[in-house]
Amino acid sequence: MNWPLTRRKNGSAGASNGHIIEMRSITKVYDTGKIQVEALRGIDLEVGRGEFVAIVGPSGSGKSTLLNLVGCLDTPSDGDYFLGGEVVAGLDKDQLADVRNRRVGFVFQNFNLLPQLTALENVEMPMLFGGVGRKQRRQRALEQLEKVGLADRVDHKPTELSGGQMQRVAIARALAMEPDIILADEPTGNLDTGSGSDVMSLLSELWEQGRTLVVVTHDKGLSKRAGRVVEIRDGAVVQDEVNGG
Ligand SMILES: Nc1ncnc2c1ncn2[C@@H]1O[C@H](COP(=O)(O)OP(=O)(O)OP(=O)(O)O)[C@@H](O)[C@H]1O
Ligand SMILES: [Mg+2]
Repeated sequence: MNWPLTRRKNGSAGASNGHIIEMRSITKVYDTGKIQVEALRGIDLEVGRGEFVAIVGPSGSGKSTLLNLVGCLDTPSDGDYFLGGEVVAGLDKDQLADVRNRRVGFVFQNFNLLPQLTALENVEMPMLFGGVGRKQRRQRALEQLEKVGLADRVDHKPTELSGGQMQRVAIARALAMEPDIILADEPTGNLDTGSGSDVMSLLSELWEQGRTLVVVTHDKGLSKRAGRVVEIRDGAVVQDEVNGG
């Protein structure tokens, strides 16, 4: 592997102690000119490989901000972040995009599919950016769509799919680069009960297959399925509990 990244100073990769995510004293201040919003105030978070963590908390508490930092969509104002043992705080935009594309699969509340592309082409996108060849791209996209039960919808555009189907395309896309972690922000937030439940089952299955999941959710049905629930209030972790424990 040829990461444009530096190893941790002490040489010990986070992955070696089983933690794929290690955050230390992470803060995030949004500066909108007029006011500064302290969205995160010193977050310490460790997530082990193969964990399924639900992040819960009131609106505006900083859940999406945290998930975006975990997924390298944004950078912290201060603190240390190791993803798979590699330093990510301080990387520039291109380096972050590279880490994100290879290591992270994102699933959003509003699906974020490209409307002009078919389901198949949407799933191919991250592989296009990841430099996967055309033939392999197509084959892997077809496989992923089959796995989420959409083999008969590959040529449909997003407007020709139901919400639940769109979210399954988004999950197939998230899996396309075989990332270390799947991150989801309110993945069932825009779905009816039935489709939401299908998406929950699909995410649970991914966990059972050994993947690492971090999911922001208001949905009790979904947080109940997680192995661990982390509660955020006013930009800080106020509770971190093993589910059912
Ligand atoms: N781009 C931004 N610029 C300025 N302030 C922001 C920005 N994004 C979020 N905030 C502020 O940061 C705080 C945390 O927002 P965040 O979106 O992380 O909350 P959340 O927990 O995901 O809420 P919700 O459950 O409503 O999605 C809020 O006070 C919000 O107004
Ligand atoms: Mg949010």
